Amino acid sequence: MLNLKLPDESATLQLGANLAPGLAPGHVLWLRGELGTGKTTLVRGLLRALGHAGAVKSPTYTLVELYSVSRLNLYHFDFYRFKDRSEWLTSGFREYFGADSACIVEWPERVGGLLPPPDLEVALGFEEPGRSAALAAHTPFGQHWLSSLRSG
Ligand SMILES: Nc1ncnc2c1ncn2[C@@H]1O[C@H](COP(=O)(O)OP(=O)(O)OP(=O)(O)O)[C@@H](O)[C@H]1O
Ligand SMILES: [Mg+2]
Repeated sequence: MLNLKLPDESATLQLGANLAPGLAPGHVLWLRGELGTGKTTLVRGLLRALGHAGAVKSPTYTLVELYSVSRLNLYHFDFYRFKDRSEWLTSGFREYFGADSACIVEWPERVGGLLPPPDLEVALGFEEPGRSAALAAHTPFGQHWLSSLRSG
């Protein structure tokens, strides 16, 4: 577990950038936290660090955006608008969580227990005027990822 203070937006972008080098195919990152805690901002910092120059839109309506950046196929999901678990079963998104792509998920709790478990989970919260982040690893890879962050 790693707890960080993110005093302003640039700190959230930087956390995303710091997570970028550790992201590899097959890995899953969950971003939890209430509306407006900075989940999409973190993804923006991560994608920029991987060399993505274009916009990073919130996939709230599209549910998923695909980025081909650096060496990665990266899927950015936002399940805020999922109403129940049955939507997951009909969506076909399970296939996206494979060895060939990295998946970042906003609002994983909307899918319930059906979503593949994450390697690393970041829980963002309000700590006005900034934000807080609590990072927890759930797999050996996630632990490695977390320690790479600690050692800077
Ligand atoms: N550390 C921070 N301190 C202050 N403001 C921040 C911080 N990080 C991000 N923000 C701001 O919070 C706002 C919401 O950010 P963002 O859209 O990334 O949230 P989100 O968690 O993705 O929300 P949603 O659940 O609606 O998708 C933005 O205006 C962003 O600039
Ligand atoms: Mg968002």
